[in-house]
Amino acid sequence: MAQLKPVLSFPAVQPEERRGDALARQYATVRALSELLTATLSAEDQMVQSCPEASPAKWHLAHTTWFFETFILSTHFEGYRPFDQRFRDLFNSYYNAIGVQPEKALRNTFSRPGLDEVRKYRQHVDSRMEKLLASSVPTDSVLDLVELGLNHEQQHQELLVTDIKHAFWSNPLRPAYQPDAPRQAVAASAPQKAQTFAGGLVEAGHDGRSFHFDNESPRHRVFLQPFRIAVRPATCGEYLAFMDDRGYERPELWLSDGWKAVQTHHWTAPLYWEKSDGAWYQYTCSGMRKVEESEPVCHVSFYEAEAFARWAGARLLTEYEWEMAAAQSAVKGNLLESGSFHPQPAAAADATPLLQLFGDVWEWTASAYLPYPGFKPATGALGEYNGKFMSGQMVLRGGSCATPQSHIRATYRNFFQPEIRWQFSGIRLADDSI
Ligand SMILES: [Fe+2]
Repeated sequence: MAQLKPVLSFPAVQPEERRGDALARQYATVRALSELLTATLSAEDQMVQSCPEASPAKWHLAHTTWFFETFILSTHFEGYRPFDQRFRDLFNSYYNAIGVQPEKALRNTFSRPGLDEVRKYRQHVDSRMEKLLASSVPTDSVLDLVELGLNHEQQHQELLVTDIKHAFWSNPLRPAYQPDAPRQAVAASAPQKAQTFAGGLVEAGHDGRSFHFDNESPRHRVFLQPFRIAVRPATCGEYLAFMDDRGYERPELWLSDGWKAVQTHHWTAPLYWEKSDGAWYQYTCSGMRKVEESEPVCHVSFYEAEAFARWAGARLLTEYEWEMAAAQSAVKGNLLESGSFHPQPAAAADATPLLQLFGDVWEWTASAYLPYPGFKPATGALGEYNGKFMSGQMVLRGGSCATPQSHIRATYRNFFQPEIRWQFSGIRLADDSI
């Protein structure tokens, strides 16, 4: 696969530029990336759905297109004729206000429409979207929907990567999704240290001056006790020490639900790890390879992150602590643009005091995914985007090696159920500064 960097540069909006023109360029960039991410996948590859949380790649390509057709073209493009009226239900994910939707587990049964048809569907929608953005018709609220649609597609790009990784791992042939992904020379990771934050009354949440999801707002005040935060995420080597200390066999280290998950799923290591001839190997987007102790550990559940923290005499950060620590950091790191598709060791020479806040691995927090004070979901069907999932999930922060750089920010809240492991999810420790 070609290096992703040139394709991914998200052009900055010039002050004198029409917003429609800027969004048209961003639209072309984002849509092209989805094509690039699936360019090496066959039609058969794009049908696989190997775990309940994943979706087939072809479905991602169609559903992201459905989003633009359903929420923008159907109501804001005069005389718009749907590519296929039946797709309105077929590629609906979870929007009850739009209509019925097929059960998620059945997405891998959609052999029709075929991949060629889905590609034609994308072209049909793209040409109308280009026309709409080039015109003077769209109001600011329609352009806001376009921006939402682009961010929605970026979320699905990350899912596409994690879903195809799981699909290829599930295949006994263990094909590599990105056989030629660049890999950093294995180095010792930066030494682990703690940085102290004074806490106090701080503001958290998005200030509303640029694009954000509704779950990031409103900005509000919170009081934090002083705390200490690890300068980098936990490494595979540190996690191996937890495993060697019988971490998966000691119920006292686990939350009750976590211990139940260990027993139910027979967890003995992170997802994708396998022991062979006394050594640990892991499946990566580039195929099977030896576990490198200097790399951040990833594909762990919230329960594993929490048990590891307890074993280490520490705890996980709250999402507010994470946001306060990240507020002054630039959004840069090992994100999708690097093309590595795998977390890399923390560089000791990095000048910033906190390393790898953005990229490499999503960091599980100790915070339940709940509405901020004063939270109001968007009106209409799009109110279902985030708000209705605020139950039984934990917040993750910072993005991963599969997150597009222009998609992530300090206020961004990702969320998954605590037993989920197929995302690039890792661990950053904290403790109370007393
Ligand atoms: Fe979606």
